[in-house]
Amino acid sequence: MTVKMEMNLDTQVRDAQELARIQVQSGLSIIIPTYREAENIPLILQRIDKLRQEQNLTLEVLFMDDDSRDGSVEAVERAGFDWARIVVRTSDRGLSQAVIDGFTRAQYPVLICVDCDLSHPVEAIPQMVLALATGQQFVLGSRYVSGGSTDDDWGIFRYINSRVATLLARPLTQVRDPMSGFFALRREDFNTSDPLNPVGYKVALELIVKCHFDNVAEVPIHFSDRQHGESKLTLREQLKYIKHLRRLYIHKFANAMYFLQFLVVGASGVVVNLATLTLMLLAGFPNAACLAGGIATSVVSNFLLNRRFTFSYAREGNIWKQFIGFVSVSSLGMAVNYAVALGVLKSSVGAMPLGLHLSALVGIASGMIFNYIGNRYVIFRKTHIR
Ligand code: GDD
Ligand code: MN
Repeated sequence: MTVKMEMNLDTQVRDAQELARIQVQSGLSIIIPTYREAENIPLILQRIDKLRQEQNLTLEVLFMDDDSRDGSVEAVERAGFDWARIVVRTSDRGLSQAVIDGFTRAQYPVLICVDCDLSHPVEAIPQMVLALATGQQFVLGSRYVSGGSTDDDWGIFRYINSRVATLLARPLTQVRDPMSGFFALRREDFNTSDPLNPVGYKVALELIVKCHFDNVAEVPIHFSDRQHGESKLTLREQLKYIKHLRRLYIHKFANAMYFLQFLVVGASGVVVNLATLTLMLLAGFPNAACLAGGIATSVVSNFLLNRRFTFSYAREGNIWKQFIGFVSVSSLGMAVNYAVALGVLKSSVGAMPLGLHLSALVGIASGMIFNYIGNRYVIFRKTHIR
């Protein structure tokens, strides 16, 4: 369930604000992933300090830096705030990894992640914490709820790109802006998440899925363009999103995803089967042999593709043992396939144009459900999670 924040001031909300005040005073850990942001560090620290004084906040700021060597360390030191420090990371680089690393080092009960380039208004933090206090599990600073916006000079490419990426995440979460890098959650919820292994930029999406958050609030923000330094969001980073999505889909819809991938491989097997059959037919083999040849080649290609993709968690297993298993389990399906195909061929279908191909297709369909069940639950059964 997604809940938009309504800021009406009835008594209930006032109680919540009191609660939020207590929560805020017990402390916020603001985690800022940075890579080459030396120019922006003093600017964001000034803004956080202003907020800190105005709202009387207890907080720490952790810059999680991937060894920028651009004066970032000195910039944090020069600012001279005892509540701000920088962690220079030299291994396991990457935006998501840096954020998660920062969360595990945080000392306060509320965790907040914000970009260093001043794209995110830190002034929205109190409202985000209030949302946590009113029962939300995760709060996003969102560009796409009413009241939210982006700077006008967002190119059409960046806009479409962001919208398509959001759409692809729809089955994982209903929130409007799951791509946002500005969010807040409780440390206790973070600590109970499923194992995290994000790739790329979408750390909020990772947390929503792996922490099983149902109550996600979105607080509208204005997303400003960065004034200093450069964006690190390259095409290569964006392609990682597809990989990340695959992992998250598998995590959330494990069985359906195995079946879906199995179907895709199966579809490729149909092509292999019919291609073989056609070639053999052209080479003058008898119909029954063509049907058998198509089945044999597709079994091999299906095995290899399922091993590599559908059941990739079992890739280290002995390939020959798995192949024998695959063929034995498939053998009944293949027999079903072959028998049905021959039967259909003998019927009036055999006399139709492309009758042999049609017979092969009906055979394939008959053998398929059978194969899936055997493979998923016998040959490639899950022994460990990669
Ligand atoms: N530690 C670390 N390691 N930090 C990184 C890395 C990295 O490999 N790459 C980027 N960062 C830091 C940047 O220094 C910045 O503070 C923040 O992560 C966001 O990086 P940008 O390069 O400014 O990314 P962006 O503006 O294109 O993307 C932002 O907006 C997207 C939505 O449009 C981020 O907030 C994304 O998470 C968000 O999806
Ligand atoms: Mn940015």
